[in-house]
Amino acid sequence: MAADDEKRWAAQAAADLVMDGMAVGLGTGSTVDHLLPALAELGPRDLRCVATSERTERQARELGLPVEPFDQLTRLDIAIDGADEIAPDRWLIKGGGGAHTREKVVAAAADRFVVIADASKDVERLSWAVPLELLPFGLGATLRAVGRLGDVRLRDAPPSPDGGVIADVTADLSDPERLSAQLSAIPGLVDHGLFPPALVSDVIVARGTAVDHRRAPR
Ligand code: 5RP
Repeated sequence: MAADDEKRWAAQAAADLVMDGMAVGLGTGSTVDHLLPALAELGPRDLRCVATSERTERQARELGLPVEPFDQLTRLDIAIDGADEIAPDRWLIKGGGGAHTREKVVAAAADRFVVIADASKDVERLSWAVPLELLPFGLGATLRAVGRLGDVRLRDAPPSPDGGVIADVTADLSDPERLSAQLSAIPGLVDHGLFPPALVSDVIVARGTAVDHRRAPR
């Protein structure tokens, strides 16, 4: 089965978790592209949605989902988003679309963060380059600091909606917690695409037509 069909199955299963009146964080990417119509068609009522990118915001509005700026809500009931890689211990790499900073803010604000993916994202170990968002101010110095951890490359991509420069670093991922702390400690690095297991409540992966829903132990 094509990955796109798997994305749709996973997105549909996540949409079923959204109840009337919930405050919902909407992620970004081709998997979330399937979530938005599923939510709009299912029709949970009185939702309050925040979007992690202009792309998602535009698509959500076109489908009639109410999107508001993320400055009034202080918590979300649920956030649903895709991932680039999902490790067995629930460490994630996100940011293939360069939206990881907003995605992490939204995931952290949610009582329940649900990751949806096709089977190709379900990996034995993380191996992607880690997406970065960097302040334009002092960019050269920040790149030099990141370069001590691995091979860093600026991405040929527009800046984030917050003006951040998008880059990727290929680094040793054998200890994601250590790398995450090292990246977070670099001034000028706004955020990176390593998401810790503590953020992740549910992983929903579709493999063919089978949907594997894994809940984090409480
Ligand atoms: C965007 C992301 C996406 O969730 C991630 O890249 C997965 O994308 P897709 O659903 O298109 O495979 O982190 O910044």
